[in-house]
This record gives sequence, C-alpha cells and structure tokens, in this order.
Amino acid sequence: MSDRGSLLRAGAVASVLLFAACRMEQRPMPTVTDRPFGKLPDGTEARLFTLDNGRGMRATITNYGGIVTSLVVPDRAGQGADVVLGYDSLAGYLRTTPYFGALVGRYGNRIGKARFSLDGRSYTLAANDHGNSLHGGSKGFDKLLWEAAPFHDTAQAGVRLHLVSPDGDEGYPGRLDVTVTYALTDASELRITYAATTDKPTVLNLTHHGYFNLAGPAAGDILGHELLLAADRFTPVDSTLIPTGELRSVAGTPMDFRTPVAIGARIGEDDLQLRFGKGFDHNWVVNGPAGTLRLAARVREPRSGRVMEVRTTEPGIQFYTGNFLDGTIVGKGGTVYRHRAGFCLETQHFPDTPNHPDFPTAVLRPGQEFHSATVYRFSAP
Ligand code: BGC
Repeated sequence: MSDRGSLLRAGAVASVLLFAACRMEQRPMPTVTDRPFGKLPDGTEARLFTLDNGRGMRATITNYGGIVTSLVVPDRAGQGADVVLGYDSLAGYLRTTPYFGALVGRYGNRIGKARFSLDGRSYTLAANDHGNSLHGGSKGFDKLLWEAAPFHDTAQAGVRLHLVSPDGDEGYPGRLDVTVTYALTDASELRITYAATTDKPTVLNLTHHGYFNLAGPAAGDILGHELLLAADRFTPVDSTLIPTGELRSVAGTPMDFRTPVAIGARIGEDDLQLRFGKGFDHNWVVNGPAGTLRLAARVREPRSGRVMEVRTTEPGIQFYTGNFLDGTIVGKGGTVYRHRAGFCLETQHFPDTPNHPDFPTAVLRPGQEFHSATVYRFSAP
C-alpha cells in the first residue's frame, strides 16, 4: 500500500474516532438534582430528587415515604408521559393516600388478625384493615422521613434512602436498619434494591407500591392494558384477603395470565376470589427460584405502545387493580382517580407469611443481611 493510501486511511479512522468522541460528549448523561418538597407537621423538610436518565426518562422521588411522585416514560412516538398516580405536593401525601408510589414496610401486605409469633413469643400489631394488619401498621415506612443521598455515574442516576426503625416500632421486634436504593438507568429501568439488618429476630417484607397507568395521566381506567404474569400458581385468600395457605394452579381460572390477557377481560367474572378482592388483589407465586432476578410480569398498553417489564428476586407479586379507588381522590394536575385508574405490581414475600410456616420465610435474624431487587423496565417497541 502506498504511503498516501495509509495516510488517508489513518485520517479516516481518526475522524471516525473523533466523531464518536464528540457524540459521546454530546450524549446527555444521567443526572440527579434536589429541591425542597415541603414541610412535615413537625417542621422538618422533605426533599424531592429528580432523576434523569439522559434518554427521555425522568423520575421524581421524595425522601418522605420513599415515594416515587412521578415517572415520565416515552411512548412509541417518543412522547413522554407520567405513568404513575400521585399528588402534585407533599400536602396531598400527608392528607390521605392509598400508598401511592411509596415504600412499604416493615411488612408490606397483610398479617392475619394483626399478630404473629416468632421463636415462641407472640407479637401484636396495629389492626388497621378489617382486623388484620396492612402495610406495616399505623405509621409504616411510607409515612417516615428517610435520610437521602443522591448519586449518579455514566449509566444511572439515583437516590439512596436509609432509616433505622427502632426495636418495637409498630409492634415489630428488633432494631431494623434499612437501605433502599432507587436508580434510573440508561437502559430505561427503574431499579429498586433493598437491604436490611436487625439486632433481634424479626419479620420483614419490603415493597414498592407504585400505581401505574401506562397510557399516561387522566387516561381513564387500566382495563385495556395487557398483562402477562410469569406465575403458574397464586395464593387464594379468604374474604379479608388473608391467604388460606394453598398454592393454587391458575389453570382454568381468571388468575391465568401466563399468556397476555387484557386486565379487563375477566375481571368481572363471577368468581369467588374476584369477589373477595373486588377485582384482582392477589399474590401470584413467581415462577423460578426466588433470590434470582427473573421475569415476574410484563404489561403492554396498546394505544401508547408502552411496555413495562417487572423482574424481581422476590418469591411473589401482588397484582392489585385499584379496586378501592372510587373517584374521591383528586391527584396530580386535578385528575380525579376513578375506579381502577391505576394498577400495582408489588413484588414481595407472600401475604401473612409469618403465620404460614410453609411459605418462603420472611424471618430476618441478627448476623443475616436481607437483600432484594426489583427492576421495572420500560420500552415502547
Ligand atoms: C392491597 C390492597 C389495598 C391497597 C391500598 C394493596 O397492596 O393489596 O388491598 O387496598 O394496597 O392499601
């Protein structure tokens, strides 16, 4: 090859590299910013963190309750919309909320008759739901102010939340040290990782309680969303939504989402479980080994083309169709949240596990570290 030829070739390679470098520099990086979100009744200030993945996704998260107050996701035309229910201001969350977007603990979901025993000792909890204990009691983790530390790197922007729940908090034993990390990644994921330690044996079930409507705000009900649940079995419940203990096959029941089905297709069927839940409000047993990140659910909203995939290390997932929303809540931008305006996919241990020795254990002991991860991944193919 002539000298001139190799010079030309070297020149071309250099330009390509430079072009790539410029493109990389221009590529927006994940960022996180932070501002006040209002004051709690005792005068302490809640913060609001804005996570931007540099690729069209944005989340706002407050350290009050670890609440995801908004989540903007592009549709198939690249148009972003907020796909979670909630309020415009802290005042809304302080007044009343069905756990919109919150971190729920110590025990997400229900504990039957608001009591359990562990190592021969019995514990009594707040009976805040028809004689049962729901979502950690009267003042669960969704109503606490978490310490918050924002972070970002080239692939993600996030906020790390930390709290210490004292021994006896809401009736639960042990001083629990909890860290929950939210990260918005350049792969269009909202990743939530949970870690906890205790100084006495205790029970624990941490989850995120986002209400999604992938069509965007004020879009009406979620019945047209198509849902797949990677679960062959679910945990049937009694009339107060406490599991009977059975792991029942979904085959031949309205609970069968092994292939995608519109949420509304069977929700109105005359079925005892649907009657108890006033719709879907049940826990499914996620296929595959708990402890490994595996597919639990995929939801597609046909009009916008948005798809949300849920992967988790947890053994179960509660699918709840906003059956208790009744039009009395006015949320973001004045939107009235009518019946079934949002759905929840809460990754979790099974409800009432502390009273069901056969269910995957929710016990945490001193010296052990609890770890769990859930990833909500968005696309609009
Ligand atoms: C429960 C519902 C409850 C809702 C709001 C869900 O996790 O399964 O029964 O109404 O939370 O509290």
